[in-house]
Amino acid sequence: MVVRSIQKTGTKGHGGKLDRSGTTGARYLLLRPAGYPLKSLFQEYPVVSEPRLFERYAREQWYGEVVRPGCYLFDRRLYPDFAFKVIKAYPRVSMVGSRTSIEVESRSNTTKDISQVSLDDVVGQDLAKRKVKIIQRFLAQPEHFGRWAPRNVLFYGSSGTGKTMMARALSGEANVPLLPVKATELIGEFVGEGARQIHSLYEKAQQMAPCIIFIDELDAIALDRRYQDLRGDVSEIVNSLLTEMDGIHQRKGICTIAATNKIEFLDSSIRSRFEEEIEFKLPDIGERERILEMSAETLPVEMEGVDLKAIARITEGLSGRDMVEKVLKVSLHQAIIEECCITQSLLDEAVRRCKREVKEAPKEMFS
Ligand SMILES: Nc1ncnc2c1ncn2[C@@H]1O[C@H](COP(=O)(O)OP(=O)(O)O)[C@@H](O)[C@H]1O
Ligand SMILES: [Mg+2]
Repeated sequence: MVVRSIQKTGTKGHGGKLDRSGTTGARYLLLRPAGYPLKSLFQEYPVVSEPRLFERYAREQWYGEVVRPGCYLFDRRLYPDFAFKVIKAYPRVSMVGSRTSIEVESRSNTTKDISQVSLDDVVGQDLAKRKVKIIQRFLAQPEHFGRWAPRNVLFYGSSGTGKTMMARALSGEANVPLLPVKATELIGEFVGEGARQIHSLYEKAQQMAPCIIFIDELDAIALDRRYQDLRGDVSEIVNSLLTEMDGIHQRKGICTIAATNKIEFLDSSIRSRFEEEIEFKLPDIGERERILEMSAETLPVEMEGVDLKAIARITEGLSGRDMVEKVLKVSLHQAIIEECCITQSLLDEAVRRCKREVKEAPKEMFS
């Protein structure tokens, strides 16, 4: 299945490019995972356990790209925007074609620019951690669990509370690939497209198993029927997701984790398919302080006379993401502009701005 679709897109979609530009076809490429140079969040790419499969996937999506050492290739599907740096190309300036041999440097060769999120990095969310540890055991020995395997788990709770981070930590700790998809990306333009995408996602997962499928923003497709009109017909996608989740195809060694910030809008038929719904709560004062402390350790600018406990006290209602992105990062950038240290007043100001934004943000998706 994978091979067929690759050949089709490969020759039809980009065949002309090769002829027109006249660039020599690449014989060999060595890639190094380079994280997300344009984003700060996720830096890791799953371990490539099936190099030949990855090679086909890579050839298909970069067919016709002209490469040279030092340039970047961006993943467009499984990990949108994840970059690979081209370390070697032979010939030096050449074009990816159907015969290009593509390799990814193994982890042991790569420098430490790929950060791994671990469960210890996730502050609080103990309920989710407990469940994730079970899933971890299952992924280590899927055959051991048989029909009692954890299969479909729903993470819900406010945005920025660590749902995605937890899924990534699980993938890192269990050392298995994570296949992340945004539900919005599954809504295709044509009838049947979304259903097909879900099917091929699970097919891909089957090849990579044991692994985790992470469906973010589930509410985009799994809306309660009362709201479905607002989003057009997504029922075919939901049906195909339910088919996969129900395991009619008996897929072994795959755990599906879905996440939503709006569980109250989910259709009950979907909710009932998850064996467990796990709430992610906003951090309490102690957790906010811990998040600040842990993130502050990696700040590239010194802090001066800062009391993080005091910041934790005035940030009730803010999420982990708010603490990192809106409070720390904004203060850091301000300090860089002012060429000074990060001070209490910079942090206070960032908190004020963040709280204003939170207050002004629309509360509901249909408001
Ligand atoms: N519980 C937490 N512990 C530590 N950091 C957190 C936590 N929650 C959020 N963060 C920070 O916020 C960022 C975004 O969190 P994310 O997992 O994307 O939230 P969600 O998926 O729930 O919207 C994380 O990368 C991390 O820096
Ligand atoms: Mg998320």
